[in-house]
Amino acid sequence: MDNVRILAIESSCDETAAAVVEDGHRVLSNIIYSQIDLHTLYGGVVPEIASRKHIEKINPVIEAALSEAGCTLSDIGAVAVTYGPGLVGPLLVGVAEAKAIAFAAKRPLIGVHHIKGHICANYIEHEDLKPPFMTLVVSGGHTHLVRVADYGEYEVIGRTRDDAAGEAFDKVARAIGLGYPGGPKIDEAAKQGDCNAIEFPRAKVNGSDYDFSFSGLKSAVLNYLNHAQMTGDAVNTYDIAASFQKAVVDVLTEHAVMAVKQYKINDFALAGGVASNSALRASMADACRSLGVRFYCPSPVYCTDNAAMIGVAAYHEYVKGNFADYSLNAVPGADIA
Ligand code: KG4
Ligand code: ZN
Repeated sequence: MDNVRILAIESSCDETAAAVVEDGHRVLSNIIYSQIDLHTLYGGVVPEIASRKHIEKINPVIEAALSEAGCTLSDIGAVAVTYGPGLVGPLLVGVAEAKAIAFAAKRPLIGVHHIKGHICANYIEHEDLKPPFMTLVVSGGHTHLVRVADYGEYEVIGRTRDDAAGEAFDKVARAIGLGYPGGPKIDEAAKQGDCNAIEFPRAKVNGSDYDFSFSGLKSAVLNYLNHAQMTGDAVNTYDIAASFQKAVVDVLTEHAVMAVKQYKINDFALAGGVASNSALRASMADACRSLGVRFYCPSPVYCTDNAAMIGVAAYHEYVKGNFADYSLNAVPGADIA
């Protein structure tokens, strides 16, 4: 299907975003209003504040996306929106907005699953990437190892049993005084530290080779800090950041490699906010090289929450005629399958 332009909206957490995407890969505009500065004050996302900010920003962000794409609503073939998972208030703002625009412009409405959006971000810059492939979605809310069997067909191979990888980065960063959001700060600090300085645990999950658990690792870092405080030992923040990051990256890489081997997959793609992590990118790229598997990862702007990825995922629903009606609702705990 040619020249289908989708107006996409993403508001599941603390980014108010809108984009216009043509034919599932040409990004005509990608506007992101990040609320990070607002939430930094509280050390994390405050849902009520996020909802209010989304309401304030969503119309200007959509107008900017249409204008940058050189479009009006009459050029748009469908309106897509993230319906879940995410924070219920923020999701509702996007869903209500998308329904209103779809109704007023008489265009079909498409509900998009946020994690599928992250995965589809890989199609934007890598036209050669086609299912089947294995993907690791690592973000502030999710850690999923997923086999993409075909466009729109996903099989979850493993997931976190407790904290998401990004959540662990954010919590550890706060504990060692690096602030919010922790991922990029740990990534930077780790470059000046020794990743073998402290032996933090690599958790195994009973009953599943592929599931993850990061809460024990987070507790190990907190225990290390408490112990040092009690004994009066000096702590080296850079070494903690580097050793913690290595523990996360080792586990993520090990599970991904196991899945790629077991399922005999030739292509592997990273996705989600933590996919920006330099150590994780390097480790997965290395592992894929040794396995003879092609490695893909979106540019940082498409790793973090954005609406272009929602427009890409929506295109594959559009092609299949999977449209939503006006009963579309926010589903904070939406499952991927
Ligand atoms: O995908 P995303 O923007 O939002 C969610 O869907 O959660 O991911 C945000 C998460 C945050 O936890 C942030 O700390 C983490 O991604 N992150 C990173 C890096 N950049 C962002 N984690 C590690 N290293 C990074 N460079
Ligand atoms: Zn996300």
